[in-house]
Amino acid sequence: MIKEKVNLNWNELKFSYIKTDYRFLSFYRNGIWDEGNLIESNELILNEGSPILHYGQGAFEGLKAFTQKNGSIAIFRPDMNCKRLNLSAKRLLMPEIKEDKFLDALEKVIKSNYRWIPPYGVDASFYLRPFEIGIGENLGVKPANEYLFYVFGVPVGPYFKEGFKPVSMIVSEFDRAAPKGTGNVKVGGNYAASLLPHEKAIDEGYSDCIYLDPRENKYIEEAGAANFFGITKDGRFLTPKSDSILQSITRLSLMQIAEDQLKLKVEETKIPIDSLDQFVEAGACGTAAVITPIGKIKYKDKEFVFYDNGKSAGPITTKLYNILLSIQRGEIQDKYNWVYIVNI
Ligand code: PLP
Ligand code: COI
Repeated sequence: MIKEKVNLNWNELKFSYIKTDYRFLSFYRNGIWDEGNLIESNELILNEGSPILHYGQGAFEGLKAFTQKNGSIAIFRPDMNCKRLNLSAKRLLMPEIKEDKFLDALEKVIKSNYRWIPPYGVDASFYLRPFEIGIGENLGVKPANEYLFYVFGVPVGPYFKEGFKPVSMIVSEFDRAAPKGTGNVKVGGNYAASLLPHEKAIDEGYSDCIYLDPRENKYIEEAGAANFFGITKDGRFLTPKSDSILQSITRLSLMQIAEDQLKLKVEETKIPIDSLDQFVEAGACGTAAVITPIGKIKYKDKEFVFYDNGKSAGPITTKLYNILLSIQRGEIQDKYNWVYIVNI
């Protein structure tokens, strides 16, 4: 293993693609997964009929690895991402990936790309992107006979260019998912559907858009490619309850931190869009977004503004952010057993 790091300006990284040295690839044929192995090429050759290309039979995950204070490399809650990938796979009739295979692939990608993993103390992490897709000869709308499982990794900086600074969002008139559709799983179609609303939000001067529930268009669902949370005037942590949002692993972690460490009352509940003035702080949370404070939300002709007139992150959002990052970076005790150490 090459121990020397690549020469990157770690604090200037964006959330964008960089080719690292190795990626993991495994095939499912005749009903079984092969062992899989690391490869160098970052290009895939697929049959032109592959179900992923036409019918979107594919799911992905996103998770991060960090260099901890003591120099070890830790992945944040990879067991949860494996469970969610299998939930997505089940919804799209794709074969399960066992947890030991999933973890082994992540470890291989981390070890072989050690020199690309941001060092301790910089504002960057190593983003892992596992995916499973339906491949092989096909024409009709039906599940593939063959699949591949792939993991690549990229050193990344903040998802929103603002970093840990408040962003402005606008409520979209589009839905990202249907009530009993695929909103609760991580499949490409949801993201294809989000491209236009996202672009419209950017064109109108916002960082991203807020989606409302697709049944009544009344309750908050997601904040772009992240979950939403708000802190009420009386100090409760509220986050949407819905069957059509992705169950964010970051959110789950924040709910636990908020309850145990900040002693906040945590409620997963329907949040009417016209009740936003109950919040003194608001934020978006996700692996890529980490915690991004939301300073302002535009809804029709109204504008809701949060802490410090939307100019800085509120105290609770800041505490949540600091605790989460300290656990990920091994600066405080991981009493929840959330980090998975990779033995380099
Ligand atoms: N919601 C959507 C639509 C997402 O794409 C993501 C990103 O993964 C999240 C929420 C946050 O989930 P997590 O915290 O597990 O990354
Ligand atoms: C993540 O947070 O990991 C995501 O998948 C969000 C986005 C980059 C698609």
